[in-house]
Amino acid sequence: MLSVQGVGEGPISVASGAGRQLLFTIRDIGTVTSKLKTSRYVGVRGPYGTSWPWKEYDEIVAVAGGIGIPPIRSLIEEMNGAGRGKDIEVLYGARTPSDLVYKKELKDWSKSIEVHLTVDRGEGEWNGDVGFVPTLLKKVRLSKNAAVFVIGPPLMMLNTVKEALSIGFKADRIYLSLERRMECGIGVCGHCNVGEFYVCEDGPIFNYSRVKEQRELFL
Ligand SMILES: Cc1cc2nc3c(=O)[nH]c(=O)nc-3n(C[C@H](O)[C@H](O)[C@H](O)COP(=O)(O)OP(=O)(O)OC[C@H]3O[C@@H](n4cnc5c(N)ncnc54)[C@H](O)[C@@H]3O)c2cc1C
Ligand code: FES
Repeated sequence: MLSVQGVGEGPISVASGAGRQLLFTIRDIGTVTSKLKTSRYVGVRGPYGTSWPWKEYDEIVAVAGGIGIPPIRSLIEEMNGAGRGKDIEVLYGARTPSDLVYKKELKDWSKSIEVHLTVDRGEGEWNGDVGFVPTLLKKVRLSKNAAVFVIGPPLMMLNTVKEALSIGFKADRIYLSLERRMECGIGVCGHCNVGEFYVCEDGPIFNYSRVKEQRELFL
């Protein structure tokens, strides 16, 4: 949870913990996010909630849409640090080429891991894939003990789940990072409550088989 004194607080993912520094990638959309970049002091508490369970699997397909890529960056770093860098494949899509975040990192990653990119609308010199990110799953050849990690806008996540199920993934091998407005971040205030879940504490990363009946979580 990152805060600016006198302004407010919000949940932000750690994009990188390399070099003993924390890196955050923030989209300026409102009161807190617009002040985080320029504020001299920023409050940090956490981390809270669940994380990607990559250690349980031989291979990970990380599917990210739009601004969902920061937690995938730290996942790649963590797997690299554990000597498992080759076991992740990244599928990433954005609306247009200029909306793709981490252009330099994407190039660097693609030297050692499979990175597939797509945009909804090609522009300028773009000569890569055009189409929605779930369609990229067709490009992936997976081992038996693989899992799919998904993060992005709700519709993108639902379509990715549909595609993953249609190519043979079991629901319990699909993990979603879900978003809710949060306040305390520690299961006390009830702001992020949906049905039986507190997204801050039970999530934000959920096994799809656990939440698939809770449609409200995907709105
Ligand atoms: C687990 C988690 C990790 C996140 N990681 C990141 C990250 O790494 N980088 C990043 O840029 N953002 C991230 N977010 C989203 C970020 O927390 C919100 O954008 C931020 O809290 C908005 O605060 P604000 O005061 O700037 O906006 P406000 O002024 O409160 O709101 C501005 C507008 O945005 C809408 N809005 C605010 N929060 C959300 C939300 N969570 N979902 C949908 N609409 C919203 C409001 O309804 C309003 O229309 C994450 C959210 C969660 C739950
Ligand atoms: S944010 Fe307070 S209970 Fe989840």
